[in-house]
Amino acid sequence: MAADSLFVTDNRTGRMYEIPIADGAIRATELRKIKADEDDFGLMSYDPAFLNTASCRSEVTFIDGDRGILRYRGYPIEQLAERSTYLETAYLLLFGELPTSTELDAWADEITHHTFVHENLKVLMESFRYDAHPMGMFVSAVAALSTFYPDAMQVDDPENRLLQTKRLVAKVPTLAAWTYRHARGLPYVYPDNDLGFAGNFLSMMFRMAEPRYAADPALERALEVLFILHADHEQNCSASAMRSIGSSKVDPYSALAGAAAALYGPLHGGANEAVLRMLAEIGDVRHVPAYVERVKAGEVLLMGFGHRIYKNYDPRARIIKETADAVFEVTGRSPLLDIALELERIALEDEYFVSRKLYPNVDFYSGLIYEALGLPVAMFPVMFAIPRTAGWLAQWLEGIVDPEQKIARPRQLYVGAGERDYVPLEHRAGRELVAV
Ligand code: CMC
Repeated sequence: MAADSLFVTDNRTGRMYEIPIADGAIRATELRKIKADEDDFGLMSYDPAFLNTASCRSEVTFIDGDRGILRYRGYPIEQLAERSTYLETAYLLLFGELPTSTELDAWADEITHHTFVHENLKVLMESFRYDAHPMGMFVSAVAALSTFYPDAMQVDDPENRLLQTKRLVAKVPTLAAWTYRHARGLPYVYPDNDLGFAGNFLSMMFRMAEPRYAADPALERALEVLFILHADHEQNCSASAMRSIGSSKVDPYSALAGAAAALYGPLHGGANEAVLRMLAEIGDVRHVPAYVERVKAGEVLLMGFGHRIYKNYDPRARIIKETADAVFEVTGRSPLLDIALELERIALEDEYFVSRKLYPNVDFYSGLIYEALGLPVAMFPVMFAIPRTAGWLAQWLEGIVDPEQKIARPRQLYVGAGERDYVPLEHRAGRELVAV
């Protein structure tokens, strides 16, 4: 009997099976050996929403949700937020190690020189309605990029993968900024190659008639920190979408558009937008207790609270709270901050939240910073997508070269009707149409 194994007795047959354990997991395919009889397909594991299923082996990001730990390639998020830049962190995520100074310069230079997009893409973006949601525009524009780079289909060619990776990291801020300019009816601003990653993004967002946009250094740094914090978060909804779509060997633009669409939802990257709408709806610190009661009654969710993995304070939320203070020193304090602080205070003491281990997540305070930077709430998920592009690509690159990965294709437990004969139209009983 191996030390690292599991013995299972199938009470249907009385047979015993030994299943190896590696890295704290059993292989679900081992269960297939467990059969009720010769014709049986074999046992499956049922895990809706992947609550306890590892879909890959990964070296990118480590999270210990119980202890509130997040590391990229082994480096604690706190150290990266304090000392790194977004481009350096993106390099780390994508290539596995921190760059030397020569490597960093070359990387920054490459990214800077891939920031422009084809003029036809600008025309495409201009054709959206004046009130189009920026995230809908962003998802579409990223997908459209695949049509400009048909060579991106060569996903098995490492050089090609690298080229598309650089293009994507470099171009998403341009597309993101243009969704904002579109919503405001402002002319699109081209990238400025003399500015850094965050500075150039702020220039494309806010530059008007001045020859060069000079962002406030404190705000530029705050944005870098937000970008670092959002760069990756292991197998979340959008990252697993990226891996799953990428497993079909489609080009990375199409896969990334799918990942961004997953991020758009209010339970994922759309939560920062939902938080601000919630704070505005609460409207006043005095209304907080009544709102908390509504949450506890199950009427509404406390947006920006709770996490599938963190059952402790999200380490990113802690850093963001400090970043918010630095931003408010420049921009002035948001009146919504007091509501947020009071919500957090009450929630952290309340039995409902304590027993469910619901703590503020990354999205609870990030929206307040974006608001202070002058961004409309609809831009918030787009702000999340810019840095997460590095994480999505790191996850995709790892999946593409993993010899164990095949096209993602979950099983199902079929619980629908058994075989039945087609009923002619005139013999069918009427029934009310309900979506199933
Ligand atoms: N407000 C009130 N109750 C909550 C909340 C919340 N925000 N989150 C979870 N709960 C309750 C939930 O109702 C359940 O209660 P009960 O046991 O009585 O049924 C319990 O806590 C466990 O929650 P769950 O729904 O099983 O947890 P999950 O892991 O499926 O969901 C989540 C995680 C993040 C989707 C969820 O906490 C949520 O909807 N939060 C609000 C949206 C949000 O802030 N999302 C951003 C996540 S962080 C950034 C990112 O991933 O993009």
